[in-house]
Amino acid sequence: MERVGIIGTGNMGESILKALLKNNVAKKNICFIEAKKDRADHIANTYGIDEVREVPELAKRSDAIILAVKPQDASKILPDIASSITDSNILISIMAGITIPKIISIAGRPLRVVRMMPNLAIKVNEGVIGMTASADVSADDFSAIKSLFSRAGLIVDVDEVHMDAITSLGASSPAFFLLFLEAMIDAGVHIGLPRDKAKAISIQVVRGTIEMLEQDQIHPALMREMITSPGGTTISGLASLEANAFKGNIIEAIEKAALRAKELSS
Ligand SMILES: NC(=O)c1ccc[n+]([C@@H]2O[C@H](COP(=O)([O-])OP(=O)(O)OC[C@H]3O[C@@H](n4cnc5c(N)ncnc54)[C@H](OP(=O)(O)O)[C@@H]3O)[C@@H](O)[C@H]2O)c1
Repeated sequence: MERVGIIGTGNMGESILKALLKNNVAKKNICFIEAKKDRADHIANTYGIDEVREVPELAKRSDAIILAVKPQDASKILPDIASSITDSNILISIMAGITIPKIISIAGRPLRVVRMMPNLAIKVNEGVIGMTASADVSADDFSAIKSLFSRAGLIVDVDEVHMDAITSLGASSPAFFLLFLEAMIDAGVHIGLPRDKAKAISIQVVRGTIEMLEQDQIHPALMREMITSPGGTTISGLASLEANAFKGNIIEAIEKAALRAKELSS
């Protein structure tokens, strides 16, 4: 699974490309097709990889073909891919909400497909990537594809039925977390800190907490208990959060996002 072709090099396509390069896939083994000329020039000039014009040429030069266009463009490009792809190619789709049976139905013929749901943090090698494969992708090919992205973050092997959960917990949650961080910074300002200091403290609190969790390998609830002394400051804040159903709100937000992902894929 050495040669990779990317169709669509927007935000995610470029992040995938960076992940492949960091994973030591040789530039000469990567090619791409991009509809926007300025975007194509940017990719070719920045990364020194070959742009190709047509899907058949990309398929000939690739073992794995990564489809990174918007879901609404699937019906235009998939029949084209279906007529160019051979049995030695595997199609890797990152399109949100388009299931493997749907991909095969739009393509109009059986294809070997891996569906992958990355979050944006693959940009910094700290991503979460949910992956699932059609039944005719062998275990060896599936592991070869997983190893293409092994340095991009945590790869989670899931059944397709759980892809909506990955979309929510993996891909949407960073936005929920950013809202929480924004609230911390505003709170710091509210209690009198200059904004730059409130921001620096809030970010460092997050970084330090994650680092402690990684080093101590304990459940977050246990760590929280360790910093919650009887009658202290922390329990006062926690009591207020719980009075406003903090945990319930987070659970509901993640559930809502998963339901929306399901709606979009039906
Ligand atoms: N953003 C995320 O966090 C995230 C996470 C997981 C998965 N995804 C999925 O990743 C996919 C890409 O998202 P994105 O945000 O990167 O979109 P994007 O920035 O719009 O990138 C897609 C690029 O593909 C080009 N394109 C469209 N049809 C093409 C074709 N037939 N041949 C070659 N290029 C073509 C588009 O050009 P035009 O604009 O001119 O059409 C655009 O430059 C989506 O399916 C999305 O669901 C995104």
